Amino acid sequence: MTTQVKKICCLGAGYVGGPTCAVIAYKCPHIQVTIVDVNETRINAWNSDNLPIYEPGLDKVVFDRRGKNLFFTTEVEKAINEADLIFVSVNTPTKKAGMGAGYAADLAYIESATRQIAEVARSSKIVVEKSTVPCRTAESMRTILEANSHDDIRFDILSNPEFLAEGTAINDLLYPDRVLIGGLQTPEGYKAQQALAKIYEQWVPKDKIITTNLWSSELSKLAANALLAQRISSINALSAICEATGADIDEVAYACGRDSRIGPRFLKASVGFGGSCFQKDILNLVYLSEQLNLPEVAAYWKQVVDLNEYQKKRFVSRIIKTLFNTITNKRIAVLGFAFKKDTGDTRESAAITLCKDFIQENARVNIYDPKVSEQQIFYDLSGPEVTYDIKDLKKRVTVVQSAYEASANADAIVVATEWDEFKELDFERIYKSMNKPAFIFDGRLILDAEKLKSVGFRVHTIGRANF
Ligand code: UDX
Ligand code: UDX
Repeated sequence: MTTQVKKICCLGAGYVGGPTCAVIAYKCPHIQVTIVDVNETRINAWNSDNLPIYEPGLDKVVFDRRGKNLFFTTEVEKAINEADLIFVSVNTPTKKAGMGAGYAADLAYIESATRQIAEVARSSKIVVEKSTVPCRTAESMRTILEANSHDDIRFDILSNPEFLAEGTAINDLLYPDRVLIGGLQTPEGYKAQQALAKIYEQWVPKDKIITTNLWSSELSKLAANALLAQRISSINALSAICEATGADIDEVAYACGRDSRIGPRFLKASVGFGGSCFQKDILNLVYLSEQLNLPEVAAYWKQVVDLNEYQKKRFVSRIIKTLFNTITNKRIAVLGFAFKKDTGDTRESAAITLCKDFIQENARVNIYDPKVSEQQIFYDLSGPEVTYDIKDLKKRVTVVQSAYEASANADAIVVATEWDEFKELDFERIYKSMNKPAFIFDGRLILDAEKLKSVGFRVHTIGRANF
């Protein structure tokens, strides 16, 4: 008989744990879902009218279930103890120091969460890895759980990676392409897989729920992100060829994407991919390959990240060259700071690299993003390459409230994020307010270059030549 899950606990109320478990609560009113986090400010925000994450549709889901079968709390031990099933959704950042620094995932939070579960649990639990982890992490979790458990209780470990993308998280969760559940190939492992599958079956068609062995599931998450990022680096590599030849990257992507074996998605050239996952997961895969003594495999995947860095630097060089080889004291309006549209998340955003380079070249930078706070922008821009002193930073950087404000008296506009509102701007008004010649650098290929040229702008677009 399949175990019936009545109470779920999620450790980590972040971009993944929060929306995922909120949707489970929304779709399974008979299950009590408690999301816990060590960060009290974050939990308070989840319990307020102003959720800590901007994600279209998230408010509706949370407000609908909060206080009924969806709870946010810092009472970690109580939530662990009461739950039948625990999602571990704490962050796994790239290690900054020690062995594997710059590549390996830091598993300290996963380990401490696992130890805490072992210490606190007084009944059997299904423990589910939601966080992205290197292949075979479940093995270490199981060893820790078994070595530290009290009484006669059992722990079954599953891997259930999350494939949601930010900005479309709720839709991705409601209508996933697939749900992946990895488990041990034992009768108990199978039973645990079925218990979790039963939850998703409340709203996901059965044929979209895939069960695999634990290691395949762990690796599939890294593989999916690596394959997606690889497509972007491939199209970005081609964008450099387009700029040098007169081919147009959007036309090339369209022509290639019409081949049903290739498909159209994730072929949009850009100033470089960002986000908390792609770079981190590929570096994680690189490290894993090196550990497995597979240097050629490691080098292959590493190139995807290297190309992404190159794309950002290439864009900056093009801007500087076009602005007569100097941007000292020139005013640059950066439109968009989030790593993609419809999110306030800035982790690994290409805009950070661009702005830091502009600051280092002594430009003045005006930044506008519809969802990113001024505080976050200054936090992201402070660092060893520039300065840690926010006061100094403020001499060079101004965060403003609209694209119009950003562009006033600017020499150039740089589109860093593909927010829809940038397509609707009154560019005649913007043109009038700028220094001349007025330049636009479209790092997202969202603007109508011909129309802008007729207004008077000098337009430079990624993946298009300016002969
Ligand atoms: C997730 C996944 O978990 C990560 O592995 C994946 O690669 C990216 O997405 P995310 O939800 O985006 O991470 O991270 P974050 O928003 O930082 O949320 C993690 C939360 O866990 C934070 O709120 C943090 O306070 C919390 N946490 C961390 C704990 O509650 N306990 C800990 O011990 C560590
Ligand atoms: C990604 C995966 O898509 C998701 O399945 C996984 O769970 C987490 O990592 P996310 O990082 O939230 O999701 O967003 P995604 O839409 O994949 O975009 C990542 C970056 O690639 C963004 O900076 C985006 O602008 C860029 N991108 C995406 C492109 O430059 N071109 C494209 O064609 C698609």
